[in-house]
Amino acid sequence: YTEEEQTEDYLFKIVLIGDSAVGKSNLLAKFARDEFYPNSKSTIGVEFQTQKMEINGKEVKAQIWDTAGQERFRAVTSAYYRGAVGALLVYDVSRRQTFESIGRWLNELHTHSDMNVVTILVGNKSDLRDAREVTTAEGKGLAEAQGLFFIETSALDSSNVAAAFQTVVKEIF
Ligand code: GTP
Ligand code: MG
Repeated sequence: YTEEEQTEDYLFKIVLIGDSAVGKSNLLAKFARDEFYPNSKSTIGVEFQTQKMEINGKEVKAQIWDTAGQERFRAVTSAYYRGAVGALLVYDVSRRQTFESIGRWLNELHTHSDMNVVTILVGNKSDLRDAREVTTAEGKGLAEAQGLFFIETSALDSSNVAAAFQTVVKEIF
């Protein structure tokens, strides 16, 4: 095989969901481009990035979709979820309200996509140690109760960002 022939084998659609300002766009920017934006604006509509990953020696492409947490800026919901095989359900460990929204996001995910979409609960902004409002144990507990993977990340200091995406893609693959 040539490189080209091997590449297009696997393309997985992954969606980022969660309240506004939890850091969805920055998780994607950090993962796909190693960039972080300290003052990023709300996403308008929908954006996506295709990222090559290597899983068990095979090249896999993750097409990662990102939209706004706020209803008025969001993409058409059904189109956003259509064909998704993975989801990162993100909250901000420094804002409890974003953790309390998780149930609502899970409902929406299950309404618009296949029940067995591989989902990871992501507690982002783990770098904000002094402002933390949601403990690791609470995050883990909710993930266990809902049958989700769980990880805490920081798009600012990069911790666990790649691992969050890799966990989902590995499980799909
Ligand atoms: P919407 O597009 O409105 O849904 O927001 P979003 O979830 O995409 O959030 P975004 O990535 O735009 O980040 C919101 C704010 O949080 C920005 O000011 C980021 O710089 C900041 N931020 C994102 N991730 C982190 C992180 O891990 N740590 C810290 N300290 N700040 C972060
Ligand atoms: Mg965004």
